[in-house]
Amino acid sequence: MNVLVIGSGGREHALVWKLRHSDRVHKLYCAPGNAGISRHCELVPLKPTDLDGLLRFAREKEINLTVVGPEGPLVQGIVDLFETNGLPIFGPRKAAAKLEGSKVYSKDFMTRYGIPTARYQSFTVGQRFEAERFVYELVPPIVVKADGLAAGKGVLICETAEIAIAALTDIMVHHAFGPAGERVVIEEFLAGEEASVFAVTDGERSITLAAAQDHKRILDGDLGKNTGGMGAYAPAPIVTAEMFQRVEQEIIGPTLRGMKAEGTPYTGCLYCGLMITETGPKVIEYNCRFGDPETQVVIPLIQGDLADLFLSVARGKLDPATVGRHPASAVCVVMASRGYPDDYETGAVVRGLDSFKAEDGIVVFHAGTKKEGEEILTSGGRVLGVTAIGYDHDLQGTIRNAYTAVSKIAFDGAYYRSDIGQKALKRIPQEKTR
Ligand code: AMP
Ligand code: GLY
Repeated sequence: MNVLVIGSGGREHALVWKLRHSDRVHKLYCAPGNAGISRHCELVPLKPTDLDGLLRFAREKEINLTVVGPEGPLVQGIVDLFETNGLPIFGPRKAAAKLEGSKVYSKDFMTRYGIPTARYQSFTVGQRFEAERFVYELVPPIVVKADGLAAGKGVLICETAEIAIAALTDIMVHHAFGPAGERVVIEEFLAGEEASVFAVTDGERSITLAAAQDHKRILDGDLGKNTGGMGAYAPAPIVTAEMFQRVEQEIIGPTLRGMKAEGTPYTGCLYCGLMITETGPKVIEYNCRFGDPETQVVIPLIQGDLADLFLSVARGKLDPATVGRHPASAVCVVMASRGYPDDYETGAVVRGLDSFKAEDGIVVFHAGTKKEGEEILTSGGRVLGVTAIGYDHDLQGTIRNAYTAVSKIAFDGAYYRSDIGQKALKRIPQEKTR
């Protein structure tokens, strides 16, 4: 089959890398891709949001399967457009992508179907005083969220009620998040440790991939600014076998049944952003796509043919037996540009990328790179996801391998966290992992 992957980050590199392993894939394209992705397939200079251009391309090249990486085109309705034109595509339709596109919608949905989440209320800009009253009902810290997509910046954890009220003024009066802030969710703070669990689903049947843990803050020890994610590992021991089962029974099952009952069945990858609390797993947020950088550690653990899996989902006939799980662990350390997550430098030459052999168990996924002549240059905030895959399932050794690989790669201003995976080591070997 001919396959098109949409997107240009480390997540898409991991998807393309795994799809390249499939005997069933003939031609493989990525729009727009990056320098690392270009080693496995042909790049197509089209933006992920150029739905008409992508449709034209898919028709012209007789694409049998399109896989969508980022949320933008999903929320825009790329799946509806491709399906209407008879083109199989992996991802949720616009009405189902709303689980990520609107926090008010997803919180109300969870309430309707009894899915565990933080206690909350939502308000329109006209309900400022009601919103302020609700702030005083909660015990700080208080979480204030803009309803719509706000480039990962729409969540404010407020240490006091006064800070929460100032945040509400910013959003409701000064329109700090533009239209994304026309409605806000105010909710209680959940204490615990976070984990990301992805379900691949055709709307009814699903398979749950290895639980992963992201590292969202820029500095070691989970300090400093929020980023897109500075590293990840899987499987995450915080999600014990028992917790994994609870996530499937209390969250994934009811979510899929609920979406079907609403007349908007969810297909593709359902990203459950969870807080593992003392009383069990609770949903912090849904995303309508694979996570980045979690995908870089979850996809290498899939045993089986990813193209077959995605195509079966696109056709509404998922066979959970298509794929299994490698008894392995994976660790991804993100190397970022100086300045990230604020304004960052680009154009630095990346060296050392050729230092690895296949048997080293290292895959360097590119997130923000471009090729100029023979050189690879940095072109994004997150540049590389240096990923170690440990088939002996020893997380400590896998972490060590990842950092040894990082030490062989250099570019001016390269920054990375030095504690990726440390939280997991604190839990091993006391708890059995899934
Ligand atoms: P989101 O954009 O919904 O992923 O939120 C960004 C981050 O804010 C999450 O990854 C959590 O670290 C944090 N967060 C969001 N909601 C809550 C909550 N109710 N309690 C604790 N932390 C939260
Ligand atoms: N790693 C967080 C996300 O993909 O949203």
